[in-house]
Amino acid sequence: MTNPMNKKIIIAIDGYSSTGKSTVAKAIARRLNYIYVDTGAMYRAVTLFCVQNGLIDSSGKVSERLKSLLQDIKIEFRKSGDAETAETYLNNVNVEKEIRSIEIANHVSAVSAVPEVRELLVRQQQLMGQAKGIVMDGRDIGTVVFPDAELKVFMTASPEIRTLRRFSELKAKGETVSIDEVRKNIEGRDFKDTHREISPLRQADDAVVLDNSNMTPEEQLEWLYEKVKEFE
Ligand code: DC
Repeated sequence: MTNPMNKKIIIAIDGYSSTGKSTVAKAIARRLNYIYVDTGAMYRAVTLFCVQNGLIDSSGKVSERLKSLLQDIKIEFRKSGDAETAETYLNNVNVEKEIRSIEIANHVSAVSAVPEVRELLVRQQQLMGQAKGIVMDGRDIGTVVFPDAELKVFMTASPEIRTLRRFSELKAKGETVSIDEVRKNIEGRDFKDTHREISPLRQADDAVVLDNSNMTPEEQLEWLYEKVKEFE
C-alpha cells in the first residue's frame, strides 16, 4: 500500500522483550513505505561477535578487549533477492538466524550494557534516521536515540503471553528449549534491561502505550496506523 502521508516522521517503538515490537514495526513500515530498523539485531550481532571471538567468559562477563575490537565490527541490513525485509549482516556474513538463538539471547544484556557498545550503535542508529521515514524498534529509541521522534510507542504484554510467544517462535525454528528456560531468559532480560545504568528501558514521558496481550497483529497495525494519521 502506498503512503498517503506527505510528511515523513520518525516512529520509535520501545518495550519489553518478546512483546512483538518487530512484527508491528515491520507491518507499519511496509504500509507507509518507511525503512525499518531492528536495533535489537545490532546488539545481538555484537554479542555474536563476542561469542565468536571468545570475549565472554564462563560467568557471562564481557572482556575489556571488546572495546579495542569495536572498530572491527561492521553491521549492515541487506535485502537479499525478493525477501520482504532486510537481514542482518556481521562483517559481510548473513547472521540473521544465528543472532536469534537462545545462546545469544542469554548474553545480549551483558553486551548491551557496555557503554562503548551503546555509544557506537546509537550513533549508527541516529545516522540511519537522519532522513526520517523510519520505524525503529528497541529499548531506548524514544528516550535516547530519537528523543524528538514524532511518534513514540511503548509496547507491553503479560510475561506469560510473551513467554509462550517466544517459546513457539524458537520451537518453530527447531531450537531445543524448555518453556522454563524461555521464561527465565525473558524475566532476566526484563530485569537487566530496566535496571542497567546506561539507557535503561523506560517509557518516554510522551510515549503512547500499546498493551497487545489480547490483540492480533492486524489490530495492532490498525491501532498504530490511526496514531500515525494524526500527523497528516
Ligand atoms: O529486541 P531484542 O530482544 O532482539 O533485543 C535484544 C537485546 O538487545 C535486549 O535484551 C536488550 C538489547 N537492546 C538494547 O539494549 N537497546 C536496544 N535499543 C535494543 C536492544
